[in-house]
Amino acid sequence: MSETPFSSAPHAAGILLRDVTKQFPGQDRPAVDSLSMEIAAGDMVMLVGPSGCGKTTTLKMINRLIEPTSGQILLGGDDISEVDADRLRRGIGYVIQAGGLFPHMTVAANIAVVPSMLGWDKARTAQRINELLELVSLDPARYRDRYPKELSGGQQQRVGVARALAADPPVLLMDEPFGAVDPIVRERLQDELLSIHANLHKTVVFVTHDFDEAVRLGDRIAVFAEGGHLVQYDTPERILTHPANDFVRQFIGSGAGLKQLGLARVKGVPALPVVSGAAGGASRDLLARTLSAGQDAAAVVDGSGRPLAWLSVAELDGLSRLPAQRSPQLPVVTHDDTLAEALNSVLLSDGGAVLVTNADGRLAGRLDAPLILQAVRTLRLENNREQESGMSSETGRP
Ligand SMILES: Nc1ncnc2c1ncn2[C@@H]1O[C@H](COP(=O)(O)OP(=O)(O)O)[C@@H](O)[C@H]1O
Ligand SMILES: [Mg+2]
Repeated sequence: MSETPFSSAPHAAGILLRDVTKQFPGQDRPAVDSLSMEIAAGDMVMLVGPSGCGKTTTLKMINRLIEPTSGQILLGGDDISEVDADRLRRGIGYVIQAGGLFPHMTVAANIAVVPSMLGWDKARTAQRINELLELVSLDPARYRDRYPKELSGGQQQRVGVARALAADPPVLLMDEPFGAVDPIVRERLQDELLSIHANLHKTVVFVTHDFDEAVRLGDRIAVFAEGGHLVQYDTPERILTHPANDFVRQFIGSGAGLKQLGLARVKGVPALPVVSGAAGGASRDLLARTLSAGQDAAAVVDGSGRPLAWLSVAELDGLSRLPAQRSPQLPVVTHDDTLAEALNSVLLSDGGAVLVTNADGRLAGRLDAPLILQAVRTLRLENNREQESGMSSETGRP
């Protein structure tokens, strides 16, 4: 028997809103007015916009906590108004601010809510609770029997995410889930959500009023104005480089270029070559190769090609053997770091550059500030060309 209402796609399901309107009784204008948008299966889509513009209403219409006045919502191809609401909600994880945990129930009991509705046996439920707590980086032995008030805000939020994922729903709705935690914890939770999303391929609809959060997390961003009016729906890159109008521009705020640095990854930039020598080797040989390559520094790598040190010509000249210990201050970024992180490391490094490692930790080259800035300029140009050749769209999908 299928436990979710969506027959075709067990891991993710697309969502289609067709001309959806919600008029609350006694309000002079609709909260959401003829909204049409398509959310592709497996995408993480961010709904951003000022307070009161209809984000929460839109989200709650997807899990039928609010019924639309008119229009249609399809989930995995099925019209949700034809699916039993309880059954629908079992297939949709829902996370709200502060986790929305039941205060009188332990962490384990909170996570077990949907599995017990689905009639899972004790062993299966217990195993799932452990699995999920590990997924959200909480030690099951330590946390499963605690009550929400015995957890920090960030931990409560993690349990909220675990609970929403309990029955492996194809869709996850998140309404300002990280709004109540401090910026450092928020960033960690965002990183964890990104890695969960990369592994589980759920369709995620995420409401936030924080544009930076939208840029960090979203495959696509939907910028809403009053009345659930979709002003622009596009990738973060294109919204940053081509805001549809002044409303979006204002929402992005200043520093669109800096935000792009936070978006682009190191692996997108061809690194400069670095001369390297193996740990324990003769420093004289590396010095000679460094000078003949016209470089003023060289890297020392271990047996697996991982960087250990980065030595100037003067430092090489003062050594006989290349060190086998990793220098504590080694400026190094990996392929998956953002250009913002790379630029930060460059600015903090003595030599004005960072080493780059690829996915398996091997030395791939180096980056300096001019190269990073050039990469951002190139990105803007590429986006411009795409725009000119008509690949971008202001609303809806291209
Ligand atoms: N249950 C309700 N009854 C009446 N008006 C509501 C209700 N829920 C929301 N609204 C109104 O609908 C509009 C959109 O609200 P909401 O979707 O919560 O906005 P957002 O999440 O973007 O801040 C607001 O004007 C709000 O006051
Ligand atoms: Mg809201």
